[in-house]
Amino acid sequence: MQYHLLHFKEIDSTNSYLKNTYRLLDNFTFVSTDYQSKGKGREDRVWQSESGENLMFSFLIKNEELIKKSTILSILTAVEVSKEIEKYGINQPSIKWPNDVLINDKKVCGILLEGQVPEYLVIGVGLNVNQKRFPEGLRRPATSLSLELNEDINLDELKERLFKSIVNNFSNLKIEDCLEYFRSHNYLQNKRVRVLINNEPFIGEVVGIDDNFCLQILSRDMLLHIDSGEIEIL
Ligand code: BTN
Repeated sequence: MQYHLLHFKEIDSTNSYLKNTYRLLDNFTFVSTDYQSKGKGREDRVWQSESGENLMFSFLIKNEELIKKSTILSILTAVEVSKEIEKYGINQPSIKWPNDVLINDKKVCGILLEGQVPEYLVIGVGLNVNQKRFPEGLRRPATSLSLELNEDINLDELKERLFKSIVNNFSNLKIEDCLEYFRSHNYLQNKRVRVLINNEPFIGEVVGIDDNFCLQILSRDMLLHIDSGEIEIL
């Protein structure tokens, strides 16, 4: 399957770039950068990353069938990142629903999905690769592949491998395999959490992931199926 690559030494945000230019670009256009001056995280947060140390990229989805499955695409991306970093010797990474990748309780990768269904989707990935120090006071402690492996990683090689596996797996969706991998790497499994549903707080225990990739939380004798939102671990 064909894909297209654009690389910028510096850009405001690879997600913003694709959102502004998607009309002119093809499905599976990847945009990567060494540095983002206005990197965006989820929930209007800022994504900061040292120049040239990490992978920052976004890719464009314009395929109708895929766009329909938007809810699972960020999880699928997290699964691909997690599988790829396992190949470098990272032991048991985990996926924090809906789309963070963690190593030993620390965040190594964040994913931001934006766009306009049914027109297009942009999936942005920030993966900490060779950065050694992170700002203090982050919401969640961060790590990088090189901190975990005690060696630096070739960014271009990792990028190429990851792009290829994303394109292959998005072109040939194996939902069952993805679910199985996610269930066996589910960071929130058996954790006590708090979630807001229509502004009402629910506290319960995460008991699994259903076949639609929703988080299952047992709360007040009810089995909740959560398809979006922020989860707070208690
Ligand atoms: C999060 O965990 O909050 C999501 C972080 C997503 C960061 C990536 S870096 C490449 C792409 N461009 C952006 O501005 N954000 C995403």
